[in-house]
Amino acid sequence: MSVPAIILPADPLNPRRPDPHFAWEARLLRESGGEHHLVDHDALLAGRAGEAVRWVPRDSGPLWYRGWMLPSARYADFAAALTARGGNLLTSAPGYAAAHELPGWYGVFEGATPDSVWIPSDGPVAPGPEELAAAAARLGGSGPAIVKDYVKSRKHEWHEACYVAELADLAAVGRVVERFVELQGEFLAGGVVLRRFEEFERVDGGVEGTRGSAERTGNGGNAGPGAGERAVEARVWWLDGRPVLVGPHPDAPHRSVEPDLTEVRALVRALGCRFVTTDLASRADGSGWRVVEVGDGQVSELPRGIDPSGLLTSLITV
Ligand SMILES: Nc1ncnc2c1ncn2[C@@H]1O[C@H](COP(=O)(O)OP(=O)(O)O)[C@@H](O)[C@H]1O
Ligand SMILES: [Mg+2]
Repeated sequence: MSVPAIILPADPLNPRRPDPHFAWEARLLRESGGEHHLVDHDALLAGRAGEAVRWVPRDSGPLWYRGWMLPSARYADFAAALTARGGNLLTSAPGYAAAHELPGWYGVFEGATPDSVWIPSDGPVAPGPEELAAAAARLGGSGPAIVKDYVKSRKHEWHEACYVAELADLAAVGRVVERFVELQGEFLAGGVVLRRFEEFERVDGGVEGTRGSAERTGNGGNAGPGAGERAVEARVWWLDGRPVLVGPHPDAPHRSVEPDLTEVRALVRALGCRFVTTDLASRADGSGWRVVEVGDGQVSELPRGIDPSGLLTSLITV
């Protein structure tokens, strides 16, 4: 049986090397006896998947990807281009979309993750007031909420484009959603998601979202939550339903976290994707862990300061 290799993005300035952001993983992979190939990320994003995979050897067998996030349609092109070269990306295009986009995983995780509704969109256009009012009503119609798209939030623009203090204030919901859509621009993934806000344990031991901007610590000048306003999250890396790495979230890489995985394990298995991450936050009242989001393990950020060698070794020995 052949051993999977891992495809990494090439450095745009020196295409024979991995992108500097992934050089660390390339080195650890090599030290673990693994092999990597390179992909041209810009060509992939531009819809030229055949050209993007030109450096991947023909008939390379099983493959994983570790790299920048791709829109689900671009991932599907990528998988097809590799198949045409005799390679086999081990996460299928539908599997990628299921873990990467909230509507793909929400049905399985419902009840273990904040209640959510979404409004699909065709492009970077904010939903109209009636659509928003209907979505807010589906979410219960009152209380605080979070705005994001199918993949990402604008958490660094917390008060402007992420946090809604009161869903019943439809004008305020409209303002936050419009600003969110404007800032996402062409990168808006899928549509707008509204989620009920839950109180999580914060980095400073308080609860999230309730403090004024005067207390925020620096965020490169962004009007976003400081470290003290963010939830303490654990990022759990799952391969074939087993947690192969449990670590802090990349936003707070030096926190130690020990989430209870009993419930999440069954949900990850039900999702049926081979390589995924789950970000877990602890409820502020101590009543347990919640799934903040699910991600495809190939495009989840690895926190610095932890040793991912075991994860990489697991990937190449599946
Ligand atoms: N429903 C929620 N209740 C409370 N806080 C939330 C909720 N959803 C997100 N957050 C906070 O906002 C941050 C960003 O949300 P997340 O869904 O993880 O988006 P991103 O993909 O941008 O990381 C989370 O790390 C968490 O601190
Ligand atoms: Mg997140």
